Amino acid sequence: MSTTPKLIDSPTAERLPMTLPRLAEKKRLGEPIVMVTAYDYPSAQIAQEAGVDLILVGDSGAMTVLGYASTVPVSVDEMLVLAAAARRGCSLPLLIGDLPFGSYEASDEQAIATATRFVKEAGCDAVKLEGGGPTPVARARAIAAAGIPVMGHVGLTPQTATALGGYRAQGRTAERARQVADEALALERAGCFALVFEAIPAAVADALMPRLAIPVIGIGAGAATDGQVLVLHDLLGIYDRAPRFAKRYANLREQMLDALRDYTDEVRGRRFPSAEHTYSIDPGELQTLRESLGD
Ligand code: KIV
Repeated sequence: MSTTPKLIDSPTAERLPMTLPRLAEKKRLGEPIVMVTAYDYPSAQIAQEAGVDLILVGDSGAMTVLGYASTVPVSVDEMLVLAAAARRGCSLPLLIGDLPFGSYEASDEQAIATATRFVKEAGCDAVKLEGGGPTPVARARAIAAAGIPVMGHVGLTPQTATALGGYRAQGRTAERARQVADEALALERAGCFALVFEAIPAAVADALMPRLAIPVIGIGAGAATDGQVLVLHDLLGIYDRAPRFAKRYANLREQMLDALRDYTDEVRGRRFPSAEHTYSIDPGELQTLRESLGD
């Protein structure tokens, strides 16, 4: 009898669109779940081709692509443009839209209305919201009850980083770790299909994992979670600032800079464009044109 674990995404298996049941099955089989952020068409296309399971149109895009100093200012309309572009680039990964700050806290009705826009206008499969206090838990429950899959997010929640004392690891005392645990469990009970653990000690994540039935995706939360997520611009090395937990798999910023410097030099030195980048015209047609211009 083979002892090889049955993988639902083996290299030879036909690639199927990610669904909530398949995600739950991945957790059951102990198959690591891969999530990455994407905010545009080509990035989503490449993420899909690379085989990721979940694409998050994170509000980190406020900083990485829109240039805001934090995630707080980004609007729903801006996020919808990013999410719709990502949707056009992928069909297989589950596409999750991040509800921006101020778009879901006020009431259940506001939360459902915003989540509905992400599904109807941008084509998202699910939404994510931050925090595990009474308000986000109530909003998660309302969104899930409205039939929209919702992902929770505990630990470091950048939308409320000021209240958490800045962009720093959370759950580093027994009391604060217990709070993260209670929030995660409350979000699970509220109907979230999955959770993000951000910037908490690996040992805390390890202690919480056996208590959660839904998939947990970690970022700066160690290796015990069911999956990992990174911000695309951090892992590609495009964004100039990256947190400690972000592993850099490439340095595209350097490559982009080199390419743009070469282009600038070649245009200024009249070395670009050359014949290979230029269209031709039949000499007779050109002659006719010249004559019509009075040459
Ligand atoms: O906005 C984002 O990119 C996120 C991830 C860090 C989980 O929320």
